[in-house]
Amino acid sequence: MTTATARAYPNIALVKYWGKRDSTLMLPLTGSMSMTLDDFPTVTTVERQPDASADTFELGGEVVTDEPLRRVAEFLDLVRERSGVREFAAVRSKNEGPTAAGLASSASGFAALALATSKAYGLSLEPADVSRLARRGSGSATRSIIPHFAVWRAGDDETSVAEAIDAPDMRMIVVVVQARQKEVSSREAMKRTAATSPYHQGWITTTEEALESMIEACADGDFTRIGRITETNAMRMHAAIQACDPPIRYLAPQSIAIFDRIRALRDAGMETYGTADAGPNVVAISRPEDADAVAKALAEFGEVRVMAPGPGAELLADSEAQ
Ligand code: DP6
Repeated sequence: MTTATARAYPNIALVKYWGKRDSTLMLPLTGSMSMTLDDFPTVTTVERQPDASADTFELGGEVVTDEPLRRVAEFLDLVRERSGVREFAAVRSKNEGPTAAGLASSASGFAALALATSKAYGLSLEPADVSRLARRGSGSATRSIIPHFAVWRAGDDETSVAEAIDAPDMRMIVVVVQARQKEVSSREAMKRTAATSPYHQGWITTTEEALESMIEACADGDFTRIGRITETNAMRMHAAIQACDPPIRYLAPQSIAIFDRIRALRDAGMETYGTADAGPNVVAISRPEDADAVAKALAEFGEVRVMAPGPGAELLADSEAQ
C-alpha cells in the first residue's frame, strides 16, 4: 500500500501546552490535557510518488508552497528516515470546517498527516507511535490521535505521547469571533513568552499543578473542578503571553465580553466555564444537558457550534481519498 487516507479532528486543551523544552524533538515544558472535537475534521491523502523529485502539498484543492509546504516536507523527511523509503509524496488535504474559524487546524492537520504517512510508508500504526510522530509536526497534534479526552505527558522523546483519559461527558460551545488574521504564530509566541515574559516560570509551575488536579477531577467526575481549572489555566496562559516584550494579545474585546457573559451565566446558576487558544475565539464548556442553553446565551457574540467528545485519528477507505 503506497497511498493512504486518514481523518483527524481538532482538539481543545483544558490544560494548555504553551512552551517547548526541545524545539527539534518538540518536547513540551509541561503536560497538557484536551478534548478531541467531533466536527471540523481534516482529511488527508498521502500518495508515494516513485518518480517525483520533490514533495507536493495541496490544501482544499489549492497548491501550497513556501512555509506550509516546507513543514509538510520536513515531516515527510522524518518518515522517510524511519522507514528507509526515500520516495517523495503528493499530499492532498482538506479541512472540512470553516477554514476561517482558525480552530486548531495544525492539530487535526498533522494528526491526519501522521497517520496517513505512517500507513503509506509502512510504519507502525499503534496510537502511541502515531501520536509520537504527530508531535514532530505540531505539539497539539500529539493529542488529536486519541478519541474523547487525552493527556499528553511532557516526558522525553519516547514517553512524550498522548494517552486516553476518562472524563465526565461534556460539551464544548465554540464561539467563533471574527478578527484579523493572527499576527504572531503560536510557535513564535511560545518562544517570546519563554524569552521575555516575567510570568513564564509561574506558568510552568501552575500548569504542572493544574494537570495533576485535572487528572484527579476527571477521575472523580467532578465537572465543577474541571471547569475551574480550565478557566484559570487559560487566563494564566494569556496573562503570561500578554506580559511578553513586545506584548502579544490574542484576546479581542469581544473575547473578553464572552468571558464576562460566561461568568454571568455561572452567577445565574448555569454552570459553564471558558477557555481560549492563541486567538480570539472562546470555547465554553458545560455539562451535556446545559449545552444548548449556553449556546443560545452566547449566540449574539458570533457563530456558535456545540461539539461533543469526538473520535481519534482514523484511516479511511480509498473511496474517501482527496
Ligand atoms: C494555545 O500545537 O499549534 O493551542 O507545537 O509550535 O505547532 P506548535 O504549536 P501548537 O500550539 C498550541 C497552543 C495552544 C494550546 C494547546 O493546544 O494546548
